Amino acid sequence: MKKLDGKEVSAKIQEQVKAEIESLKEKTGRVPGLTVVIVGDDPASKIYVRSKDKMAAKLGINSRVIRLDAEVSRQELIGKIKELNEDDEVDGVLVQLPLPGKFDTWDILDHLDPGKDADSFLPAGLGMILLNRSRVFPCTPAGILKILEYYEIDVTGMDVVVVGRSFIVGKPIAAMLTNLHATVTVCHTRTKDLPAVVRRADMVVAAVGKAGIIGPDMVKEGAVLIDVGVNRLNKKEEVERYCTERQQEKFVKKGYGICGDIHKDAYAKSSYYTPVPGGVGLMTVAMLMHNTLQLFKKRVKT
Ligand code: GUN
Repeated sequence: MKKLDGKEVSAKIQEQVKAEIESLKEKTGRVPGLTVVIVGDDPASKIYVRSKDKMAAKLGINSRVIRLDAEVSRQELIGKIKELNEDDEVDGVLVQLPLPGKFDTWDILDHLDPGKDADSFLPAGLGMILLNRSRVFPCTPAGILKILEYYEIDVTGMDVVVVGRSFIVGKPIAAMLTNLHATVTVCHTRTKDLPAVVRRADMVVAAVGKAGIIGPDMVKEGAVLIDVGVNRLNKKEEVERYCTERQQEKFVKKGYGICGDIHKDAYAKSSYYTPVPGGVGLMTVAMLMHNTLQLFKKRVKT
């Protein structure tokens, strides 16, 4: 088994994005602009948004965060998005999800200019992925493909099982892997016999958000394990059952441990696996920077 190091791949992407931004700045006198909109004060979202803002600034992107109160009205929020659509300094916009419960996500996102959709969440972006004509992909699936590319893992002909059917990860990664000639099966909460399906997989992509749901008994010897789940556990028995030793130490110090959807005991059966933390999660923010650069290039027509 070999660990796929998200930190190493993320560092490489950041280096490439930074270098390209510098050279485009010389050519065009402009740098890419990214605006993140966050509504309310979900603690996890606040941490993500801070890390996006920090990385954007580090790579030379003109980064802005618009923080709106959870009480903001639908009209005000849509008005803000329309302003960003018109703002020539803004190449990419990301509306951090989840939005507070009173909003209908699509009712809001539908007002965003598809040419500025840094997440590639809008129907136009997803449609382009299905047609295999896309240059911008949702950040987490894009990060998975970059890891596979970096470690020269060719998915052609592989039986891939994707567990989870969200529009953020499961659905787009299934289409993207199909475009790369994998044979893809998508599993979800109503799948009749999840262990039987997963056991056939040459590669498992787990994106469910349930600690250790993919157990060692469900994994074929030599499978590639890609874990998108980030689960925060604070009960001692759970931390001991699902978290690596390192995270168990963290639990003692900080009162919580992080683990993925793939049980740590399954790693030993794999050919390659992404750890949690330290795997796919670290790629997501780097791919947002990559996407912002692609949107900028399209807008300035380089
Ligand atoms: N919330 C969790 N992941 C994401 C993401 O990739 N993009 C946005 N906009 N919100 C998220």
